[in-house]
Amino acid sequence: MEKPQIGFGVSFVIYHLILLLSLAIPVLSQNDAAVMNILKKAINAPPNLGWTDTDVCKWQRVDCNSGKRVISVQIGNLNLQGMLPKELENLSELQKFDCPQNGLTGPIPYLSKTLQRLVIRDNKFSSIPNDFFKGMTMLQEVRIGNNPFSPWSIPDSLGDCVELQIFVATNASLVGTIPDFLGSMPGLVSLLLNSNSLEGGLPASFAKSKVEQLLLNSQNGNNKLNGTLRVLQNMTSLKQVWVHGNSFTGPIPDLSDHDQLSDVSLRDNQLACAVPSSLMALPSLQVVNLTNNFLQGPVPTFKSGVIVDMSGINRFCTNIPKQPCSPLVNALLSVIEPLGCPLKLAENWKGNDPCNGSWTGIVCSGGNISIINFQNIGLSGTISPNFASLTSVTELFLANNSLTGPIPNELTTMPNLKKLDVSNNNLGGYVPTFRQSGIELKTEGNPDLGKPLKSPSGSDFDGGNGGRENNNLIAIIASIVVGLVILFTIATIVFLRFVKKGNYSGKLGGLIGKLKHRHGGESGKGMKINVSGSSATGQADVQGMVIPIQVLREVTNNFNSDNILGKGGFGTVYKGEMQNETNIAVKRMESGLLMEKGLSEFRAEIAVLTQARHKHLVALLGYCLDGNEKILVYEYLPQGELSKHLFSWKENGLKPLDWTRRLNIALDVARGVEYLHTLAQQSFIHRDLKPSNILLGDDMRAKVSDFGLVRLAPEGRNSVETRLAGTFGYLAPEYAATGRVTTKVDVYSFGVILMELITGRRVLDDSLPEEDFHLVTWFRRRMQNNDESLRKVIDASIDADDEETMSSIWTVSALAGHCCANEPHQRPDMGHVVNVLSPLVQAWKPQERGEDVKYGIDLDMSLPQALRKWQSLEGKSSTIDYGSGSQSFVTK
Ligand SMILES: *[C@@H]1O[C@H](CO)[C@@H](O)[C@H](O)[C@H]1NC(C)=O
Ligand SMILES: *[C@@H]1O[C@H](CO)[C@@H](O)[C@H](O)[C@H]1NC(C)=O
Ligand SMILES: *[C@@H]1O[C@H](CO)[C@@H](O)[C@H](O)[C@H]1NC(C)=O
Ligand SMILES: *[C@@H]1O[C@H](CO)[C@@H](O)[C@H](O)[C@H]1NC(C)=O
Ligand SMILES: *[C@@H]1O[C@H](CO)[C@@H](O)[C@H](O)[C@H]1NC(C)=O
Ligand SMILES: *[C@@H]1O[C@H](CO)[C@@H](O)[C@H](O)[C@H]1NC(C)=O
Ligand SMILES: *[C@@H]1O[C@H](CO)[C@@H](O)[C@H](O)[C@H]1NC(C)=O
Ligand SMILES: *[C@@H]1O[C@H](CO)[C@@H](O)[C@H](O)[C@H]1NC(C)=O
Ligand SMILES: *[C@@H]1O[C@H](CO)[C@@H](O)[C@H](O)[C@H]1NC(C)=O
Repeated sequence: MEKPQIGFGVSFVIYHLILLLSLAIPVLSQNDAAVMNILKKAINAPPNLGWTDTDVCKWQRVDCNSGKRVISVQIGNLNLQGMLPKELENLSELQKFDCPQNGLTGPIPYLSKTLQRLVIRDNKFSSIPNDFFKGMTMLQEVRIGNNPFSPWSIPDSLGDCVELQIFVATNASLVGTIPDFLGSMPGLVSLLLNSNSLEGGLPASFAKSKVEQLLLNSQNGNNKLNGTLRVLQNMTSLKQVWVHGNSFTGPIPDLSDHDQLSDVSLRDNQLACAVPSSLMALPSLQVVNLTNNFLQGPVPTFKSGVIVDMSGINRFCTNIPKQPCSPLVNALLSVIEPLGCPLKLAENWKGNDPCNGSWTGIVCSGGNISIINFQNIGLSGTISPNFASLTSVTELFLANNSLTGPIPNELTTMPNLKKLDVSNNNLGGYVPTFRQSGIELKTEGNPDLGKPLKSPSGSDFDGGNGGRENNNLIAIIASIVVGLVILFTIATIVFLRFVKKGNYSGKLGGLIGKLKHRHGGESGKGMKINVSGSSATGQADVQGMVIPIQVLREVTNNFNSDNILGKGGFGTVYKGEMQNETNIAVKRMESGLLMEKGLSEFRAEIAVLTQARHKHLVALLGYCLDGNEKILVYEYLPQGELSKHLFSWKENGLKPLDWTRRLNIALDVARGVEYLHTLAQQSFIHRDLKPSNILLGDDMRAKVSDFGLVRLAPEGRNSVETRLAGTFGYLAPEYAATGRVTTKVDVYSFGVILMELITGRRVLDDSLPEEDFHLVTWFRRRMQNNDESLRKVIDASIDADDEETMSSIWTVSALAGHCCANEPHQRPDMGHVVNVLSPLVQAWKPQERGEDVKYGIDLDMSLPQALRKWQSLEGKSSTIDYGSGSQSFVTK
């Protein structure tokens, strides 16, 4: 039964197949022939075209495949008139249809989905069906420009053309916006939408585009594209980009990764801020047009051979290439960049003197900026911490804009600020604590202010402007810092008169450092600056460090205010008293302050501190992450900050430190810092060494604290580009000038501490004449002379009568001078410092207690266990070794 059936089936199919094939080829090719004859008539094919043969495959400019099917019709530049017939769709194997430069009219008919190339430019066609491109998955090249289409928008159906490489629709009556999908077409290399009537912004999807040729310019101001050019930063395949004659605003993006870019036309837009050096440095640049924008900063200079067009209006600060702008102009530029380079300001900011009276928003007095009024001018973006570099400003108005992000802590360092109005924006985060007396602060109308920042905002902006621009910015800041250090220090004098109590913490970065580990009333003196910044990152097994919140509540008497050791802008340090009188220091971050990003930093800090354990580094005993609570628990050092014992012992009813103690403290600190610098795998840089960050135990032995600014020095080169952070007076000159941080910046700060130990004088002393204001210059001058002048600088409370003490002080003075050498390479490393100091300490050995007794504490111990062990050692000595140095550091 089955066999005959199969046999019948097979022969039936074969029979029909043969029938079909024998009939189909002539039938279909006849169809193609019919279509071609209809076309011939419709376009009035001239006799010279030679479309006469009965076999259309023999016609000129027509190609067929082996199956006699028409695959290509190429009839360009023949002065053809007429309309294309709708039967063209029946050429169902058509791959190429070219008819450019004719006088053809009417609508474009549907064509086969097999189409690979469509060239109909320079005709008089009136429209293309909206779904024309539907299913055309093989289409690679489309040229449809210079046709009087009735206004249409780029059809969604074009999104089906996944093979598209070239889309040229110049002067094609396009309206509406540039659709997002164009940025996601993987093969697109040429996108020409110039001379249309497009509006809106560049789609964000362009960031992924590999387009090499992007023409979006206007012919006669028809395209009206707006928004920023930010996304161009990510279009690193670009070779030619023309966006002239639109309404683009904001800065020229960072183009430093565009190594093939040769032709850039940005003219006739509303671009502002300085021309980025990345554009000037483009290796393959040939033509660049910048004319008629509101570009600011110095006149850009390009390498010879580049054709430059930058006549017309712009807002360069001078007319002279290479001439830098005035420091005030640079400072203002650094401030408006994070505000998106607002046009309203660029328009009227002409020349190199912001104080000539015509700069919108700027009011000066005596040649210095006193008032900045940017309210109600539609600003978006973030408030730059660089406002703080404009130290003469007394009133800063930013109200009624759309600003986002936080109020930078740096603003609290503005010495003359009397009024700050940021009302009616979209700011978030916590309001920093302003300590200037009588400052008038308006923040209403910012619903998210006082709440944690939603996301690491500003990162958006960073993405848009790129690291290099930030580096420029940093360079600008750094040069301003250098230029204004004297001004700052003068400001500090004024400032210190206002600030008698309370630590001035302006840190954005590392979180532990945001709280002072304070044990007395003494506060860090000196103005803290920080325009930064990330902290060291690391990963460690922090198991066994978690402490339940209940325990911490218990030991701090439910965070009782009587237990407060100190307060910072980011939270509070409590003394925790265990039942058996063992104490701990509990840093409680302000609740909710740490969102995702902050949390990872918090964890990284914990990782650093659990790895970097040394008897001269304050030990982290544990931490707590519980809901909104983020708490760090440290060992408690009863004698508090070194600064208290050095500078204000009288007020605090303390005894002055004798020379032996000072030597021991110096050596302790040196050992702690040496350890940080020479950890097995990676080295850390503290960046904020100063007496208020050195804590003393009951035995007056010292430990370094406050690791909030600690940085990881990358392997290989011991230097990282970073943003400035630290404390004035202790900043190494090269760090202040360039932001370049090496372990030698700690050596410099340590040298300053040595000088303070010798002299009992604070690093910055406002009671002295200006040339003596900074301890380092004061000390150096006196060291150049003789024994007698050295004697005069020694702290009067040091009993230095005997020869031995004097010689020891001499040695330390020389070491201090060495550490504070201007050139980092002239400074010794901490190993050398330890080698110089330890024999001096040895000489005084009799007065020392068993320094080298070491105790190990297992990191996996629970807090109660650790405390028990710790407590059993207390009373003898707090020199506990937490297993120093043996563990390698793991970075992410
Ligand atoms: C085109 O194809 C349609 C069906 O797909 C058919 O009805 C029509 O007759 C064809 N036209 C020509 C000229 O072959
Ligand atoms: C733009 O297209 C129109 C209509 O086809 C044409 O008349 C005009 O010459 C074109 N403009 C340019 C600059 O090519
Ligand atoms: C861009 O222009 C459109 C109108 O064409 C307008 O609605 C939009 O707000 C503008 N966007 C920007 C960023 O200026
Ligand atoms: C654009 O590039 C920047 C770095 O240049 C990067 O951070 C960002 O994620 C990129 N954006 C997109 C959408 O790829
Ligand atoms: C750019 O400027 C140069 C020099 O003025 C000029 O030759 C060129 O045509 C301009 N290119 C564009 C796209 O405007
Ligand atoms: C300020 O300087 C600019 C550029 O030099 C000039 O155009 C403007 O007139 C000056 N304004 C005043 C009030 O002098
Ligand atoms: C302006 O600043 C300079 C320092 O740059 C200072 O010497 C001068 O006193 C200041 N003028 C006024 C009026 O504040
Ligand atoms: C800010 O906007 C509010 C509401 O529109 C208005 O009452 C107030 O006067 C504006 N303030 C400024 C400084 O423009
Ligand atoms: C100290 O207090 C802790 C916590 O209350 C406790 O666990 C430990 O046993 C006490 N140690 C001594 C030696 O009493």
